[in-house]
Amino acid sequence: MIKTRLCDLLEIKHPIIQAGMGPFGTNNLCVASTNAGALGLISSSGIASGNSQPGIYDFFCRSGGANPDDDKETILRTVFQQTLDKTRESQGIFGINVMVSAEMREVAELVVRTMISAREEDQEMKRRFKVLVTSAGDPLPWSEAIKKTDLVWMHVMPSVKAALRCKKAGVDVIVASGHEGGFHTSWEPIHSMVLLPAVVEAVSDEKTLVVGAGGYCDGKTLAAALALGADGVQMGTRFLCTEESDFHQIWKEGIRHAGDRATIIARGFVGPARWLKSPRSEEHAKNTLEKSPGVYLGIPDDYTTIDMSLIEYEIESINAIFEGNKEKAMLAAGEVAQRVDDMPKVNDMVQTIVRDAEGALKGIYKYMIQP
Ligand SMILES: Cc1cc2nc3c(=O)[nH]c(=O)nc-3n(C[C@H](O)[C@H](O)[C@H](O)COP(=O)(O)O)c2cc1C
Repeated sequence: MIKTRLCDLLEIKHPIIQAGMGPFGTNNLCVASTNAGALGLISSSGIASGNSQPGIYDFFCRSGGANPDDDKETILRTVFQQTLDKTRESQGIFGINVMVSAEMREVAELVVRTMISAREEDQEMKRRFKVLVTSAGDPLPWSEAIKKTDLVWMHVMPSVKAALRCKKAGVDVIVASGHEGGFHTSWEPIHSMVLLPAVVEAVSDEKTLVVGAGGYCDGKTLAAALALGADGVQMGTRFLCTEESDFHQIWKEGIRHAGDRATIIARGFVGPARWLKSPRSEEHAKNTLEKSPGVYLGIPDDYTTIDMSLIEYEIESINAIFEGNKEKAMLAAGEVAQRVDDMPKVNDMVQTIVRDAEGALKGIYKYMIQP
């Protein structure tokens, strides 16, 4: 058994976080991960998809046991309640991921407000729905509202500078997200091998924990993150490609069969994004080079300056997945897709990861010799 400070803080069995992932949502995946003893995360991005992606919105609501005709607060409350009910037997701990970039601000406020009030109304909800994972934005403006609660606050970010800002904001667990990670990634590319130890050295102390994200998918990589000083890992691509994952079969199969050098960077709707290579994503990368070159130069643009045809192309490509149109689809995934070649049940996968991490750590220990 591997037990880290993350396990103690969150009261979870294994130092593994199932990443929040949109747009399909992770309502079923969160239940499976929570029941497996990892930290399960609901993804709130489905609630933002609304009019431009009605099929995905509908899917998000129904997979959370909610009626798409209800107002958004009722839908969120229903999703929270379903997760609580379906994890009652295991008494697992779960949370929610919310992107706090400018484009997502309104939705983010709704999600955080609803989470806080749902927890205040139910003691079991308060005890087990206790983690808020913010991402894709500045944590500081959120500090006052979040630090008034007893939530464990995690924030996903890509640099030492941003980690120091998290510390100033009072974030409890800083997630160092390397450039190899799936979907939205940073404007400036620092990968996990450099980023994680740099962030650990800069901010880890008795009050601030650090988790690695980007490139972690098995026992070896979990053991490596612990060796680099992390308190745990967050995995996205690996959890996406599991039996219980809410993602479309086309997406899961795309990851499973990705192979060597499988990803490419192009514009995503909140900045650079990592996609599986395909004629469609390669076309998108060419358009990005022309219309949003900052993606390749580390110079951010936003909805006030960007050519919106890039965003429309992305939305069309995501909608195509939902419609089962493989040619028109674009699939986001991390570099680690090339190391994922099965689609296990979440519980089996988590147990295997932990067992293999133990094996890897013991294996390294044998190199120690008595002087
Ligand atoms: C399909 C997909 C969707 C994602 N959506 C979100 C999201 O909505 N919010 C977020 O903070 N991160 C999102 N991520 C990033 C993950 O939370 C995670 O940090 C990342 O996948 C870690 O890298 P890995 O893919 O190498 O495991 C997404 C990742 C993938 C692959």
